[in-house]
Amino acid sequence: MTTGLFITFEGIDGAGKSTQLDYAVNYLRSKEKKVIQTREPGGTPISEKVRNMILETNSPLDSETEVLLMFAARKEHIARVIRPALDSGSIVVCDRFTDATFAYQGGGSGVSSSRIETVEAWVQGDFQPDLTLFFDLPIKIAQRRMGQRKKDRFESEALDFHERVRHAYLERAKKSPERIKVIDSSQTKGQIRELVQAELDRVCT
Ligand SMILES: Nc1ncnc2c1ncn2[C@@H]1O[C@H](COP(=O)(O)OP(=O)(O)OP(=O)(O)O)[C@@H](O)[C@H]1O
Ligand SMILES: [Mg+2]
Repeated sequence: MTTGLFITFEGIDGAGKSTQLDYAVNYLRSKEKKVIQTREPGGTPISEKVRNMILETNSPLDSETEVLLMFAARKEHIARVIRPALDSGSIVVCDRFTDATFAYQGGGSGVSSSRIETVEAWVQGDFQPDLTLFFDLPIKIAQRRMGQRKKDRFESEALDFHERVRHAYLERAKKSPERIKVIDSSQTKGQIRELVQAELDRVCT
């Protein structure tokens, strides 16, 4: 039986996920919670290799291949890290998860949602995050925040790719308002941190 809590952080590149995830992990630990911090794609040695294959390659990669690689890495991550941690009662905080596949490979690259749902059902069954925080920000602001940082495969995509990714996230949030909370990420780090803490207090009783 799953006893822990699975919380995912989502958003376009540069939306402030990692910044808030670090705050959240510290906050939960300050409340004596057992917390596992992880990320996707990645989170296990093999899944991190898949991450590098997807993000660092310069060769073209078919979008459906990308979906399958993401879910292969995810299957491993769930089986070896996420499930065991939840079963032992930990809170698992994950930087990106399946919503990102729907947003990037679906919205961004045009893979049909029904195809992604098929693989999702196979890999996850009915396993879903208990809470997803979606950090929403206009693309231009996110890109300004990232500055001159070296770009990975997705960050190098054109503006309209990122617009489609953002739109896909917002559509998903509309469909699952109980699970996915939209956070206006144009606010200051401190303001956002307070909103995140309020959400964490709500789910971590
Ligand atoms: N609310 C904020 N206001 C201004 N700058 C911010 C805010 N939140 C984060 N930043 C800055 O924006 C940059 C991107 O933030 P961060 O790395 O947390 O985003 P991310 O969503 O994790 O990005 P990526 O998807 O590329 O990992 C960092 O330099 C960070 O310090
Ligand atoms: Mg990050």
